[in-house]
Amino acid sequence: MTAQYQVHADVAVITLNNPPVNGLGLETRRGVAAGLQQANADPQVKAVVLTGAGRAFSGGADIREFDSPKALTEPILLSLIAALENSDKPVVAAVHSVAMGGGLELALGAHYRIAAPGCSIALPEVKLGLIPGAGGTQRLPRVLGVETALNMIVTGEAAKSEVLARLPGQQLFDRLAASRESLMDEAMELARSVADMRPLPRIRDLPCGHPQGEAFFQFARNTAKAMAPHFPAPPRCIDAVEAATRGPFDEGLRRERETFLNLMLTPESRALRHVFAAERAASRIPDVPDDTPLRPVASVGIVGAGTMGSGIAMAFLNADLPVTLLETRPEALERGVAGIRKAYEGQVKKGRLTGEQQARRLDLLKPTLQLADLRGCDLLIEAVFEDMDVKRQVFEQLDATAKPGAILASNTSTLDLNRIASFTSRPQDVVGLHFFSPAHVMKLLEVVRGEQTAKDVLATVMKLARTLRKTAVVAGVCDGFIGNRMLEPYFRQANLLLDEGATPQQIDRAIEAFGFAMGPFRVSDMAGNDIAWAVRKRHRTERPQQPASVVADRLCELGRFGQKTGAGWYDYAAGSRDAVPSPLVAQLIEDHRREQGLERRRIEDAEIVQRLVFALVNEGARLLHEGIAARASDIDVVYLTGYGFPLHRGGPMKYADTVGLFNVVQAMQRFARNPRAEPAFWQPAPLLLRLLAEGRTFN
Ligand code: NAI
Repeated sequence: MTAQYQVHADVAVITLNNPPVNGLGLETRRGVAAGLQQANADPQVKAVVLTGAGRAFSGGADIREFDSPKALTEPILLSLIAALENSDKPVVAAVHSVAMGGGLELALGAHYRIAAPGCSIALPEVKLGLIPGAGGTQRLPRVLGVETALNMIVTGEAAKSEVLARLPGQQLFDRLAASRESLMDEAMELARSVADMRPLPRIRDLPCGHPQGEAFFQFARNTAKAMAPHFPAPPRCIDAVEAATRGPFDEGLRRERETFLNLMLTPESRALRHVFAAERAASRIPDVPDDTPLRPVASVGIVGAGTMGSGIAMAFLNADLPVTLLETRPEALERGVAGIRKAYEGQVKKGRLTGEQQARRLDLLKPTLQLADLRGCDLLIEAVFEDMDVKRQVFEQLDATAKPGAILASNTSTLDLNRIASFTSRPQDVVGLHFFSPAHVMKLLEVVRGEQTAKDVLATVMKLARTLRKTAVVAGVCDGFIGNRMLEPYFRQANLLLDEGATPQQIDRAIEAFGFAMGPFRVSDMAGNDIAWAVRKRHRTERPQQPASVVADRLCELGRFGQKTGAGWYDYAAGSRDAVPSPLVAQLIEDHRREQGLERRRIEDAEIVQRLVFALVNEGARLLHEGIAARASDIDVVYLTGYGFPLHRGGPMKYADTVGLFNVVQAMQRFARNPRAEPAFWQPAPLLLRLLAEGRTFN
């Protein structure tokens, strides 16, 4: 039973009961429709209260139904809302906890609404590349005013019931209940008080308008386009609200529905829905059951207060967890702590943090030079130099110091976690926690699963990631894990494209026009070209057959490490991050071409984008085949949350699906014919060929 029906004297109560958030799937809609019919047919019943069981009034449409015929099977949400609105007996919606999307639209179909305080109210459809499709764009402006409603619809952000209830002139809520506990009693009382009211108030009959009319909507459209240039939904939200001000109501409703159905078919909405599902899937590890007992993590120790150690410390302090920060030298410790203090001061100045919060966070930080101070910590994270000997020393010390059962984590970005674990007598307690820089800002956390990492350790760190508001993705052990391993062929293509005739600025511009936050050369300058240089040097001994990135190496030999040295692939004026094309770099590229006897050719932007993105796809397919990544969607999540891959494309693997695997393989074969190509590079990964042969996709 996904909706329950009960009669309390003269009031019928229909309760949505479809855990976890009372999604409005077909069965639930049928249940509500049946309850309403029963109430209208029962002479004892004078009024109806509609509410939700458990943790929500309703979180809205059941997105598992989106691409199934069920979504279009009657009663669809629109029909259900019409039935509520046309009910002969008054319907009171008693909302609490969460009333979002279709859930809010359902409540807007009732004649009266009462809310518990603290209820999150939103029309978040835009976050899935859609507009509300069941009257939200027509009814919300009528009860909250055009500006407030438009803002909520275009951003998809939630507002609290008590805040909305205080807005002057609002007609969204007839009453705010004193508490969640008293909500139902107050709703019944409201229902009885309006039992004889006729005609019944309907939101559709309220006026809707904006004093500046067209000019206001045009301004809103321009702003939306500037803020989300790759997404069609925000301007369509504005069109729909504008239609609400033009009337008639049913015409607005018809246009809203038509727009909703059209947006469902756009690649942008498909991508966003994919990401929504992908992020949820990533949090589950196939062989680690949901009820795996967790280890307690009430205190954290961090080894190394450099760039990463300090950022990781802030990530935990921000989540109200005490951190002991260990360094070897007082200057390094002082520098790390000063960096943390400065970052918090900056946040206070910008009004993002109160002085009190800052004090609390700094209070939770215990800087130390004594290894013994880490003894009581539940979780220890190593963030020292990327050098196996240093890691060995640190893990031997941690093994000797940490209490039994403590989780020992490494933030290594490339080194073999199994070897690191072998330096301890407790490899089952060792896991990789690969944070991204800046660690207190970046959402991605790669959780590296060693051969012996215990399941409860994995379950604990996945839960911890949620506490830190990070998106965690599990990766197996290999050089670079998921993200950095795929980045290597991506950069190799970027460097080859230079040899063939492109410039760093052309490559960056092309991939940025595709939607990446930053092109490879600007990224490299920001991260520091020396980091990839060190990796290349290591690879040179491990993979001697791999061609060198000569220009990149020469750049580093000249000390052009990027923004931090004021020069890299681009020039930077003192203190500026504006990348200015460098004549010296152009000369270096030209010299290299001449030495190699390479003819410069004109390269189309489309080739640049395909070579870079399909290089990611091919390596992604290999990672999947090797089991380093469990799902193609995990790879997409890594690239979207950690590497600036354009959200509206849904990640590299989803993008390959959208382009069609046949087209991807064809392009690879074309690139392989390039005389400069390494023959093995464009050999399509076996998994890619298999999926193609079976007519399947990655996702
Ligand atoms: P860093 O050089 O800024 O900091 C390392 C710190 O560790 C230094 O302050 C050093 O004094 C300290 N240290 C060295 N040995 C120590 C010991 N035995 N005990 C206590 N402290 C010790 O390096 P960074 O960039 O913070 O990198 C740290 C780790 O994080 C490396 O494994 C790196 O690969 C990884 N990583 C780096 C990222 C980045 O963007 N910088 C991103 C993700 C991971």
